[in-house]
Amino acid sequence: MKYAVVYASSTGNTGMLAHEIQTYMEKRNGECVWFGKAADAVSATGLPGRDSAAGLPEADILFAGFWTDKGNCSEEMGTFLESLHGKKLFLFGTAGFGGSEEYFSRILGQVRGHIAGDNKVIGTYMCQGKMPVSVKARYEKMLESDPENERMKAMITNFDQALSHPDERDLAGLADAVEDSIRTCFAD
Ligand SMILES: Cc1cc2nc3c(=O)[nH]c(=O)nc-3n(C[C@H](O)[C@H](O)[C@H](O)COP(=O)(O)O)c2cc1C
Repeated sequence: MKYAVVYASSTGNTGMLAHEIQTYMEKRNGECVWFGKAADAVSATGLPGRDSAAGLPEADILFAGFWTDKGNCSEEMGTFLESLHGKKLFLFGTAGFGGSEEYFSRILGQVRGHIAGDNKVIGTYMCQGKMPVSVKARYEKMLESDPENERMKAMITNFDQALSHPDERDLAGLADAVEDSIRTCFAD
């Protein structure tokens, strides 16, 4: 099975998931035809880019990874997804706010909005991803000026929860989701 992994990751969380997919697919004897960042892969689909990404069009599955940027994927990932046609896609992503499948579903709904109807999404996976300490400092400053701000307290609790993610369980969950999706999609 030929596969490609294309992802966007500004602080490395989604990159961890991308590498986990590659490790898992290698164990499964998959053939990686392309692995890299969305900005570089865009050229493979006919849009301007920095790399030819020659193997991308022949992938049986395209794993597309994103970090959550204001409830959606980041711009370069959106541009990449919008350029795809006739692909089997597995979407994976990280978000700073975790703990709710409903929240993840909402983000995935936004991301799917970038995908043309002639593609098929064969599976999805999301988990929480740590955020830079500057974010916590901002929350703490706001809490300082408004000590009873319950929303800010919850944001800080969430920030602390996110610090250990993606963790081993997240990566194991990703591998399981990949396996399930491949089995279901290529069952016959
Ligand atoms: C500008 C910006 C916007 C973000 N917007 C959201 C958001 O809307 N929802 C969310 O859950 N996390 C949001 N995050 C957190 C990141 O999605 C999260 O930390 C992610 O794991 C980063 O992935 P990366 O390390 O692959 O870049 C945002 C982070 C930044 C820097």
